[in-house]
Amino acid sequence: MKFANMQATSYNDKVVRQFAIMTVVWGVVGMLVGVIIAAQLAWPELNFGISWLSYGRLRPLHTNAVIFAFGGCGLFAAAYYVVQRTCNVRLISDKLAAFTFWGWQLVIVLAAISLPLGFTQGKEYAELEWPIDILIALVWVAFAVVFFGTVGTRKVRHIYVANWFFGAFIIAVALLHIVNAAALPVGMMKSYSAYAGVQDAMVQWWYGHNAVGFFLTAGFLGMMYYFIPKQAERPVYSYRLSIVHFWALIFTYMWAGPHHLHYTALPDWTQSIGMVFSLILLAPAGAAMDQRHHDLVGRLAQTA
Ligand code: HEM
Repeated sequence: MKFANMQATSYNDKVVRQFAIMTVVWGVVGMLVGVIIAAQLAWPELNFGISWLSYGRLRPLHTNAVIFAFGGCGLFAAAYYVVQRTCNVRLISDKLAAFTFWGWQLVIVLAAISLPLGFTQGKEYAELEWPIDILIALVWVAFAVVFFGTVGTRKVRHIYVANWFFGAFIIAVALLHIVNAAALPVGMMKSYSAYAGVQDAMVQWWYGHNAVGFFLTAGFLGMMYYFIPKQAERPVYSYRLSIVHFWALIFTYMWAGPHHLHYTALPDWTQSIGMVFSLILLAPAGAAMDQRHHDLVGRLAQTA
């Protein structure tokens, strides 16, 4: 028989399910905090004079919860789901995958406690204090080992484009987090940034901008390249365009951070580079739209 030697691969769907459930839970919590701070913008007295309910403390709780807890759990779930199916192998280590799940939940709980209590490094989207930053780095390195280890043991020769986006998301976030979080601890929950003045602002917005570019964009593009063609029941419209899209995004996003610091003490030439690369970023954005448009139009034509 033609398929007699084929063995069914048993995937680790437990960790995928755990992350998927927590995506929903943290989505509800994060958006609820969003509703509370939105209400406080209209009715400031809704902080009831309690410091840990104040806008300044709950706003970073909202942003961290929706981006890193809600978005992050969704990205872990999708990366683990997709890498197994596109490589036709199980995750290389169930234990390490479980460590990423429980470690990430611990990071989220520590954030939910420490931010309302007022512990912060004062850097947007990188507010968490140094002990939590170290835990984030450990979990992220474990994530990289599980993901790239699984890609390394794949039974399919080609590495599908979704995995390129997930891989870039994992590597870039590690780099951004470790460089931007470099700090001198002066107490258990207090530290000073390794950078000073305008360099500190520059590193922070290189981080902040690329956190959007690689966490909220590249990772979600990985999801998109797997699930949209899958739902449309047809291959990606243009695989060649997906490769152009990947390199255009990776190359240009990294340089656009200074657009967060226009008309500041940052040298003019740096601001100009940020501005020009932001304009060039229209190219990968256009490539993504074109690809999805054709995927969906193709699907409509197929079902018409
Ligand atoms: C029920 C849904 C939501 C509500 C009511 C809400 C509300 C808010 C409010 C009031 C702010 C502060 C605005 C300010 O300080 O001027 C904010 C900021 C922010 N929210 Fe949400 N939000 C919601 C969902 C989300 C989701 C799903 C995400 C992303 C996954 C998100 C990401 C952000 C970010 C990144 C900021 C900071 C924006 C900036 O500083 O420019 N929010 N949100």
